[in-house]
Amino acid sequence: MSLQLQNIQKEYLTRSGPLKVLDGVSLTLNRGDALAIMGPSGSGKSTLLHIMGTLDFPTAGTLQLDGIAPFGLNERDLAAFRNRRIGFVFQDHHLLPQCSVLENVLIPTLVNREANKMELAKSAKELLDRVGLAHRIDHRPAELSGGERQRVAVARALIQKPLLVLADEPTGNLDRASAVIVGKLLIELNQQEQSILVTVTHSPDLAALFGKRHEMDDGRLT
Ligand SMILES: Nc1ncnc2c1ncn2[C@@H]1O[C@H](COP(=O)(O)OP(=O)(O)O)[C@@H](O)[C@H]1O
Ligand SMILES: [Mg+2]
Repeated sequence: MSLQLQNIQKEYLTRSGPLKVLDGVSLTLNRGDALAIMGPSGSGKSTLLHIMGTLDFPTAGTLQLDGIAPFGLNERDLAAFRNRRIGFVFQDHHLLPQCSVLENVLIPTLVNREANKMELAKSAKELLDRVGLAHRIDHRPAELSGGERQRVAVARALIQKPLLVLADEPTGNLDRASAVIVGKLLIELNQQEQSILVTVTHSPDLAALFGKRHEMDDGRLT
């Protein structure tokens, strides 16, 4: 049950020629690991997270999650793999404004037709309780603060008990106090679920809470 990256390279083809963004990233993370990635803007952090999340593919190198090499899967199997094994938290919460908090948390489960709706609703409520929003399940995102919306986004990322949780500057739009709450929550849930957590952050305060820290510098992890 691990995430293994070997010599991941990424080049984008741009009008002014190929642009090397990741220059040989190798990394192994196991269940329970929490990694913070820091580093300057444009150094390749989001690109790396997208590749870990199978939202983008590497130009070279290999990636395995839980013994599976996702880039060898066909599109349909890859989408199913991503849906079940990986949870995402973005800088913007990406909640659906017309849906309630509870409905938003359940969105990743909608593609799973065999799922037991009653049980899922129960899990979603439990998760919302764990992120401190049990009393807000019928509210719309617009009725919540920024920190509360991000806590809903965290619950949504975890609803399918993913092995890998990826967060790209999840506290980037939050004030300091809310950022600490969301950051601590991500790590606490990572410890409880024994998932693998990878978070990009500019906040040294937040990074200090993580068991592992790496700096991205010009496409390389140090
Ligand atoms: N789709 C793309 N096409 C071309 N260049 C890209 C693309 N996505 C990102 N880049 C470039 O790759 C570099 C790294 O971007 P990114 O991974 O977003 O950095 P970070 O998240 O560390 O700020 C930047 O120079 C960016 O302009
Ligand atoms: Mg980025």
